[in-house]
Amino acid sequence: MRLRLSAVPMLFGGMLFAMSATSGLSLDNGLARTPPMGWNSWNKFACKGLNEKVVRETADMMASNGMKDAGYQFVNLDDCWQIGRDAAGNILADPERFPSGIKALADYIHGKGLKLGLYTDVGTMTCAKRPGSIGHEYQDAKQYASWGVDYLKVDWCNTLPGQNSESSYTLMRNALADSGRPIVFSICEWGSTKPWLWAGPVGNLWRSTPDIQDCWDCKRTWGGGGVVQILDLMNGLESYAGPGHWNDPDMLEVGNGGMTKEEYRTHFSMWAIFAAPLLAGNDVVNMTADTKEILLNKDVIAIDQDPLGQQGRRVKKTGDLEIWSKQLQDGGRAVALLNRGSSPAKISVAWTDIGYPDTLSANVQDLWTKKESSAVKSGYSAEVPSHGVVMVRVKP
Ligand code: GLA
Repeated sequence: MRLRLSAVPMLFGGMLFAMSATSGLSLDNGLARTPPMGWNSWNKFACKGLNEKVVRETADMMASNGMKDAGYQFVNLDDCWQIGRDAAGNILADPERFPSGIKALADYIHGKGLKLGLYTDVGTMTCAKRPGSIGHEYQDAKQYASWGVDYLKVDWCNTLPGQNSESSYTLMRNALADSGRPIVFSICEWGSTKPWLWAGPVGNLWRSTPDIQDCWDCKRTWGGGGVVQILDLMNGLESYAGPGHWNDPDMLEVGNGGMTKEEYRTHFSMWAIFAAPLLAGNDVVNMTADTKEILLNKDVIAIDQDPLGQQGRRVKKTGDLEIWSKQLQDGGRAVALLNRGSSPAKISVAWTDIGYPDTLSANVQDLWTKKESSAVKSGYSAEVPSHGVVMVRVKP
């Protein structure tokens, strides 16, 4: 990873960063110019179900079922791929789960035109009590690079008393920069030390919220929450995101069984409004046609991947009815009419709600039904199902 200059160069403590007009200080390693897309093992397979067979079959499927063509690129192993360290301190993959080793797996995945991601932790152990990277940052980064790793998620479990998040992740950033390989750097401290305030120059993305739960509206005592909880936590973080540095509301639960089709559609639509990483978290080998239809909606993916890289914001809230809007590079807007209530409701967006004059005449495309309306004046209204969204692209 190389720290490159663009826009206004600044020198801090020997490290170079770039100042962008919209987003302040940001890591400029040239990676994740749009939010990363791919798959991660954790939400479906957790610790127990992770092994080489699952990963290879997932990569095979992603390369052939349209996911790769739709932009899903990373195949990410989460916790439990690792088992210990050798006498020289080198990190070891679990030989029972990964008999061919990580290098062979990376070669296989690269051969499919996809990329490989790994997981570690800046503490002494990962959350599932596998070896953490503290004291081994440079050694691990070199090892990952020599295996051909393209993405690294770094967790925040089992840290030392008083351990500082910014300096721990900065150390790992420097180790990755030194490894000689471009590696997307994903910070995962669950929003606990407000990473949006310090992680711009450190990571390509940072978890801004606690662990997602496969539910519409639920809150765990330890902090995890459903889609509704995450929506509220993401609101207000818009100014911290942009190309190369993203807020991360966690991986997708689409297809894991805890929500209705309507709710999964809303989950996916809102992650696109957030310019969130789209990391499928389901069993893609055995997914239903409904799940596939959601994950492969190219019009919604295009909103997520819009090159302007703006995170959308809530522009109006009337009880359970909300309007969210994301500015797009072509001057248009993606708008989500969101109904959090328990019965269907009509929601209306006025052009003035989304920064246009009332006199504007625009084309409106519904990104789920594909219905198009032309020369729409003043605003747009739609009947929105309970826990649903109507998501449209407005083109002046
Ligand atoms: C933490 C992270 C999750 C997952 C698990 C693995 O909870 O937030 O995304 O990586 O650890 O143990």
